[in-house]
Amino acid sequence: MANAFKDKPLEGKVAFIAGASSGINLGIAQHFARNGARVAIVSRSEEKIAAAAKTITDEGYEAIGMAADVRDFAAVDEALKTAHDTFGKIDIVVSGAAGNFVAPALGMSANGFRTVVDIDLIGTFHVLRACFQYLNRPGASLISITAPQAVNPSLYQAHVCAAKAGINMLTKCLAMEWGPGGVRVNAISPGPVADTEGMARLAPTPEMEAGVKARLALRDYGTKTDIADLALFLSTDNANYITGTIMDCDGGTGLGNAEGDALGDFK
Ligand code: HXC
Ligand code: NAP
Repeated sequence: MANAFKDKPLEGKVAFIAGASSGINLGIAQHFARNGARVAIVSRSEEKIAAAAKTITDEGYEAIGMAADVRDFAAVDEALKTAHDTFGKIDIVVSGAAGNFVAPALGMSANGFRTVVDIDLIGTFHVLRACFQYLNRPGASLISITAPQAVNPSLYQAHVCAAKAGINMLTKCLAMEWGPGGVRVNAISPGPVADTEGMARLAPTPEMEAGVKARLALRDYGTKTDIADLALFLSTDNANYITGTIMDCDGGTGLGNAEGDALGDFK
């Protein structure tokens, strides 16, 4: 029945999600729990991650929240070990911790650039490298969260573009190395997602938000559920033959500027 859509496709599975105290990654954790997984989530803030875990346990699902900075390999390893000791072998790992600020390269120090690369790219290496020994293999699914900036050069985003481009290539290299061990490695590239810190930073005014939407083929922001649905699919047996891909879930962001009225009267 690998190709049928099941009621609770993640029943019996264990998921570890990094950067899940808020936003898209918390949305993924909640979606995974509602679809049967037991979830372990981490972020830097003890308070934020405890509150996030509570949103899941309050719905009657199993979850633990742990504070760990993805820049600290030992802390990441410790959190993974705790997840493994609590729930058993880990089936699904999502690496989504990230930092962003809007600044030109000349307006950021070496430490500012390094901070984003450390969180996004080195942090993703830490999560994926450390998780391997705790995985339920064959069959494990690893997902990095990247961004359109990985392939679209963007003003004031040199640090994010560089870090996310590295994540895309890391994803493909690990897919190649770990496929023979029964581990699939993919990435999701969300477009602009509503009600997130990411878009609050990138398009902070209603005018900027309207401008982003006007240039998108689908003319609207995505939702956290849009991204979580793709993460869910990639973590089920239905995606058994998918590895090393960077999947856009972006309303057409990757197509480029779609401003205009090509449909005319055919709308
Ligand atoms: C220039 C800045 C800056 C800014 C920080 N820095 N903000 N430089 N312009 N606006 C510099 C600081 O001066 C410092 O350099 C260095 O960055 C580290 O800053 P800290 O505050 O000490 O770092 P830290 O506490 O580790 O916080 C990391 C952070 C912060 C990235 C700076 O914003 C954060 O915690 N972000 C997490 C939440 C977040 O960003 N969510 C959005 C993810 S969305 P100096 O030289 O002074 O020491 C995303 C985008 C995807 O990833 C794309 C969407 C489409
Ligand atoms: P968010 O809510 O700020 O999520 C970022 C998460 O990472 C938070 O839980 C934060 O929690 C955690 N985090 C930050 N630094 C960390 C560190 N050093 N160690 C551990 N955890 C850390 O942002 P979001 O907008 O939902 O973005 C989530 C992911 O989607 C990111 O990878 C982002 O690049 C990607 N993305 C977002 C959009 C969008 O439209 N929002 C578009 C494309 C891609 P703490 O503060 O508690 O550590």
